[in-house]
Amino acid sequence: YKRITVKTLVDMKANGQKISMLTAYDYTMAKIVDGAGIDVILVGDSASNVMAGHETTLPITLDQMIYHASSVVRAVNRSLVVVDLPFGSYQSDPKEALRSSIRIMKESGGHAVKLEGGKEIKESIKRILHAGIPVMGHLGLTPQSIYKFGTYTVRAKEEAEAEKLLEDAKMLERIGCFAIVLEKIPAELAKKVAESVSIPIIGIGAGPDVDGQVLVVHDMLGMTHEFNPRFLRRYLNLFDDMTEAIAQYVDDVKTQDFPNDSEKY
Ligand code: KIV
Ligand code: NA
Repeated sequence: YKRITVKTLVDMKANGQKISMLTAYDYTMAKIVDGAGIDVILVGDSASNVMAGHETTLPITLDQMIYHASSVVRAVNRSLVVVDLPFGSYQSDPKEALRSSIRIMKESGGHAVKLEGGKEIKESIKRILHAGIPVMGHLGLTPQSIYKFGTYTVRAKEEAEAEKLLEDAKMLERIGCFAIVLEKIPAELAKKVAESVSIPIIGIGAGPDVDGQVLVVHDMLGMTHEFNPRFLRRYLNLFDDMTEAIAQYVDDVKTQDFPNDSEKY
């Protein structure tokens, strides 16, 4: 294998090769995802929902993100590991953003950070990039701003928001971001953005005409089953399979089927 770098991803776009990306938050899952050949592993702040059961991504802390990221990094041989800066760890000022990014890089061994937002956080992103830390942008439906949006519905359907998004994407490329996630925006706008910049655009609910796709791994494996957006393709129904397996175990313990003669010392 050859390790994926931020340069690999930019080259992939130039060569018309699509980029695959999934989340992981722990060692065991990351081992499987990396071994299966994924290009990018995102230690997303969606761990706040998926791992901790919070309703939003806002509560997860920088320490918790570092714990998840360090577990993922220990499992990975090939994928590029991108770590979300959690809510409250970068919005105050560029120094705080840099300090948080340095903690992630030093304490987890991750390879890049991701931040939500456009021109509002331009100076913070520049500061992080100046320290030699690769930055992935994230525009469109940015879940850390859910209380501002008030809804998880599609973003940038109106001209003004679409225009700002395109400008933000161009700015992120100009200052040196290596890729941008576009979440839940019209496919046509995502296509236009992907055509307007030379860095890879990774979509989630952004249609097919972008440079790569990302999903939350627990969603695409069907471990979660209450989250059903249109963009989610389920490759397995692990919720049902795991429930059945665990119910079988419960039954086997109760009926003393488990452990049997060959399962004892
Ligand atoms: O936290 C996350 O899982 C994400 C992806 C959905 C892009 O940011
Ligand atoms: Na995220």
